[in-house]
Amino acid sequence: MKTRVVSTASPQDRESAVAEAVEHLRRGEVVALPTETVYGLAADALDIDAVLKIFEAKERPMFDPLIVHLPDREWIERLAEPTTDEALSARLIEAFWPGPLTIVLPRRSAVPDVVAAGLATVAVRMSAHPVFSEILRSFGRPVAAPSANRFGRISPTTAEHVYSELKDWIPLILDGGPTTHGLESTIVAVRSGGIEVLRPGPITYEQLSQFAKVTTAPASARPHAPGQMRSHYAPRTALFLTDDLRSFQPPAGKRIGALSWRGTTGAFFAELRVLSHSGDLREAATNLFRCLRELDDAQLDLIVAEQVPESGLGAAIMDRLRRAAGR
Ligand code: TXA
Ligand code: MG
Repeated sequence: MKTRVVSTASPQDRESAVAEAVEHLRRGEVVALPTETVYGLAADALDIDAVLKIFEAKERPMFDPLIVHLPDREWIERLAEPTTDEALSARLIEAFWPGPLTIVLPRRSAVPDVVAAGLATVAVRMSAHPVFSEILRSFGRPVAAPSANRFGRISPTTAEHVYSELKDWIPLILDGGPTTHGLESTIVAVRSGGIEVLRPGPITYEQLSQFAKVTTAPASARPHAPGQMRSHYAPRTALFLTDDLRSFQPPAGKRIGALSWRGTTGAFFAELRVLSHSGDLREAATNLFRCLRELDDAQLDLIVAEQVPESGLGAAIMDRLRRAAGR
């Protein structure tokens, strides 16, 4: 299969790209689309054969459930059962949709088992990306979309990242430029009046705390979220976390790459990537996966990544760095 990469830069490009993507979705094909978080690999969520193509292209195990992206809020009632925590879910949706927040809700039978990996719940989100949301409105049905990378690899933040891993596996990639947030959506479950964070992301603990008590599901206590495995988001090169690059002494004779928080390093590194010279966590999040990919492609013996402050978006960045380090 030859993979077409289609631009959405000009209004004309965008119109024909949207039409082509919708056409593919109607035919039960998978397409890679930009969202505000990372690129997604989308297919009709209610078409089992189409959804199976996502698992096939990603080489994703069937026990890992997919996020269902909705064209509008009315779809929630058709896919999810009402809960006793309805009021809190509604407030979160009101505050953060469309946007980078995924909510896990009790599943209705309209959602195929393969999408939810047999779980009693379904994860739903509504993207704010202009191209993605236009495609969903035009398609008029929910779309299942995991990140558009091979299973366990780093999520793609550009169309080039998607192409490098999925070319010849999927027919179409829409190029919407680099994504805004650079990290996957925050995933929450609302339980007993509180918010449980299953995956930290662009909507921060601080933001969520304004609505209810927030707890974190420890990795070991997430059997219901198999994709939250520790070794997710991993570069192939070994990655080591350090609290300060200035005190790290690279061993002689090794090619060491550094991922620096603000660009201050004490020693020479074969490759250096800086998350944000100005110490802006938002900029750091946007750069994180691209920097990790570039370092991973640089034939290094080791990547040393510096910790970032763990407040706000820093919690999500540190979550991804710890997973990349396999811890
Ligand atoms: O930002 C995002 O969320 C991106 C874009 C494309 O929307 N999508 C994304 O999907 O990151 P994916 O499949 O790479 O990660 C979704 C995570 C998986 O770890 C999966 O295990 C978890 O969501 N998940 C899906 N359904 C779930 C459920 N019912 N309960 C708990 N976790 C669930
Ligand atoms: Mg993923």
